[in-house]
Amino acid sequence: MWYKSILDCIGNTPMVQMNKVTETFKPTFLAKVEYFNPGQSVKDRIALKMIEDAEKEGKLKPGSTIIEGTSGNTGMGLALAAAVKGYNCIFTTTDKQSMEKVNLLRSLGAEVKICPTNVEADDPRSYYSVAKRLNEEIPNSYYPNQYDNLSNTQAHYETTGPEIWQQTEGKVTHFVAGMGTGGTISGTAKYLKEQNPDIKIIGVDSVGSVLESYFRTGEFDESKIEPYLTEGIGEDIIPKNIDFSVIDDVIQCPDREAFLTTRALAKKEGLFVGGSCGAAVWGAMQYARKAKLGKNDLMVVLLPDSGTRYVSKIYNDEWMISNGFLEDTPQYKAEDVLKIKPNKNRKLVTVEAGQTLGEAISLLNDYKISQVPVMEGGNVVGSLHENRILNILLEEPGAKKMKVNEVMGEPFPIVPSDVQVDQLTKMLDANNSAVLISLGNGEYNVLTRQDLIHALSQEPEHEVQN
Ligand SMILES: Cc1ncc(COP(=O)(O)O)c(C=O)c1O
Repeated sequence: MWYKSILDCIGNTPMVQMNKVTETFKPTFLAKVEYFNPGQSVKDRIALKMIEDAEKEGKLKPGSTIIEGTSGNTGMGLALAAAVKGYNCIFTTTDKQSMEKVNLLRSLGAEVKICPTNVEADDPRSYYSVAKRLNEEIPNSYYPNQYDNLSNTQAHYETTGPEIWQQTEGKVTHFVAGMGTGGTISGTAKYLKEQNPDIKIIGVDSVGSVLESYFRTGEFDESKIEPYLTEGIGEDIIPKNIDFSVIDDVIQCPDREAFLTTRALAKKEGLFVGGSCGAAVWGAMQYARKAKLGKNDLMVVLLPDSGTRYVSKIYNDEWMISNGFLEDTPQYKAEDVLKIKPNKNRKLVTVEAGQTLGEAISLLNDYKISQVPVMEGGNVVGSLHENRILNILLEEPGAKKMKVNEVMGEPFPIVPSDVQVDQLTKMLDANNSAVLISLGNGEYNVLTRQDLIHALSQEPEHEVQN
């Protein structure tokens, strides 16, 4: 069995249960994983539908140019379909989008024009306006306009909705999806509510978008518009594809929660998805808490795209730290490591230069340690390590009676207690198995490589509050 073209592989994406990210909640959470589409996003569905409807209406003819304002995913779907069907593509997008997305579109033969993000939608520089202008200027061009083209909603009514109904055998109680153009949520919701009007539909919006306040008040409140980094959801316009009458609630998700949940989905569920997916799952959990959902509830959360397009952003620690979404790794100091090292209250174990090697060996055995500083008159004069002891015992049969100062090695480096761990790590090399930390008043403590490993492995995981 084979497919006639890659376009026949669009849709019928799997549904996968989430187990760990959602484990503190009672309902069953199912992810509808849209990166299984050939263009790795939910937008393949609407791209194909818009093109096929345009062909039927005679708006697309051989040699036509498809022009669209897209954050990348719709472009990818359109470019795939255009490649198979033989159309040209020009896309306008914003400078907020990942370069991965732009390069992907170019790989499929599309031309991409990057426009400024922070201008009004009706500004001639906005990506909406540039797409409209190009459509007027270029002959035989077609502007699908995913925002207002109702083929978008229809694609989800015809495919996403029925798939979810069949895959859950009609048991779905809640459907959660991010809202951008609104096509996904509106089309899927219409189908599901026709099957069972009790199914609740929850939209997830981004903080900085007007959709949530519009849903609550019916007013377009410009003061809600502010910059945000989550790609694909939230709007500064009200697209025709959003049908608020089928939406029961809207949750707004901040960038930080969206991105930390996205990373948790990858690490804990193996779902390597994009930022709007984290927002959708976070929104689903917020709703589950707010509505006190129970174990009989079955929430389907649509995950629109893949993490591959965000490796330089959400999955890049430096980008996350520089945007304030992750705390920088705290710089531990020697004194911090001392506070949490095992046996932290034990006085420093030392051996005197005049003691015998046999006494030193008993000391190492008694305390189960591998090395010890050698002291003379209250000063550190050398060190003794088990490797050295082993060599001497092999070389000298009567070694146990020898004095420590006859066999000892160089003293361990001595550093102040506020030295940073990365410097300590550099000092703990093949020549130095331990470092002495000066505590003042001639007092010392010792740190070994094991102590550093122990301390650094205690570093708390960055967790999102769900
Ligand atoms: C990554 C991503 N998530 C979510 C959405 C929102 O889906 P819809 O436009 O159907 O509301 C989009 C749409 O652009 C998207 O690209």
